[in-house]
Amino acid sequence: MKIAVYGSGYVGLVTAVCLADLKNQVTCIDIDESKISNLNKGLVPFFEPGLDELIQKNKSRLNFTIDAKSNLKSAEIIFIAVGTPQRPDGSAELKYVFQVVEDLSHNLTDNQLIVIKSTVPPGTCQAAEEIIKKNFSGKFAVLSNPEFLRQGSAIYDFMNPDRVVIGTSKESASKLLAKLYAPLKCPIVTTDLISSELIKYASNSFLATKISFINSIANLSEKVGANIDDIAKGMGLDKRIGPLFLKAGIGYGGSCFPKDVKALLNISQTNNIDFKILKAVDEVNESQRLIPLQKLEAKLTLKNANIAVLGLAFKPDTDDLREAPSLTILKSLLAKGAKIKAWDPVAEEKVREIYQEVIYCPSPYEALEDADALIIITEWPQVKNLNLTKVKNLMRNPLIIDGRNVLNKKQATKLGITYLGIGR
Ligand code: UDX
Repeated sequence: MKIAVYGSGYVGLVTAVCLADLKNQVTCIDIDESKISNLNKGLVPFFEPGLDELIQKNKSRLNFTIDAKSNLKSAEIIFIAVGTPQRPDGSAELKYVFQVVEDLSHNLTDNQLIVIKSTVPPGTCQAAEEIIKKNFSGKFAVLSNPEFLRQGSAIYDFMNPDRVVIGTSKESASKLLAKLYAPLKCPIVTTDLISSELIKYASNSFLATKISFINSIANLSEKVGANIDDIAKGMGLDKRIGPLFLKAGIGYGGSCFPKDVKALLNISQTNNIDFKILKAVDEVNESQRLIPLQKLEAKLTLKNANIAVLGLAFKPDTDDLREAPSLTILKSLLAKGAKIKAWDPVAEEKVREIYQEVIYCPSPYEALEDADALIIITEWPQVKNLNLTKVKNLMRNPLIIDGRNVLNKKQATKLGITYLGIGR
């Protein structure tokens, strides 16, 4: 099929490249000239494993342009995948979506599908329909088709979805979109527009709830002397609960969970629903980020202490720093006069722009030299596989705060390291 994708950010670009790999002809449209010119040179604007290679492989089926007008008419399906950032009150900023809708409404031809992939509150697709109707009198359909891609495994997630959700008021339109996804051989949930819009918020908020719940159990485990790893295993084997998203740590970050939880709270408030559970999910997550600092301060004075920080990205396999716990932790450590050496294989450059006072090291071991404490923030493989004997020998004071529960506590303790995990 001939496809156009508005927005070459994370969701738009991954969607476009994967659709090209499924043998569709895809045009990526973005207003950012330098981004488009870089993409034409094969330069991807963010780090996502496998994406550069997939662009190279499909370059004959991909076109990157700022010229929407001359590229839109031939597309059978037009995706909108522009950002919906958080407003100060927690609601989703919709101006970029509506700008695109207004723009394309002047350039449509009959029978095109307009598919909103951006995460948008209930009613947005209907509002988009109204904008288009004002400027275009031909036949068209607006569909909702939320994305569930995880950063770091976005290509795998696109190609192997648990389900595809399609919201529409027109059956024929959903059939055409379902045809595009047919090669993925997954269940397709077809629903009305508003339910589809809400499925995205409900899914992300539910996963965030699982994380805040297990983190609360972890905090309790610590007090009563239980082990959160065993508890998560014992709970997760129950099919009704499932093992995923039960990993205790220093809370969720990233571009979706914090934003979507806050947006759903805002939507609920607007509709006079007091979504008590979700408020607690957000609060628990905020306080969970501070736990490494509390543990550290209980053991040493931060002023002039050498602190090694391993991992800065909000999770492994990404350079994304949005809502990354590392930023809160670095800020606090610096405010308290600590001297920081940090390591991250891909996010370092971006953090350097924010915190010039930190010394950035080319390897985890260099960050550990003469350290009074180590804080683990991101579970990169290089961190999981640290040689603990080497760690002990390099540190001035062997104290580890393992914010992701990735090191072997028994082995660390045996070596004489003071090991503090989260709920274990
Ligand atoms: C998420 C959703 O998974 C995806 O479907 C949606 O489209 C976008 O938001 P992403 O933010 O890329 O994806 O990462 P994910 O792997 O879901 O992790 C989110 C956060 O939760 C990370 O900070 C991670 O460290 C944390 N997390 C995850 C936990 O603390 N414990 C867990 O068990 C799982």
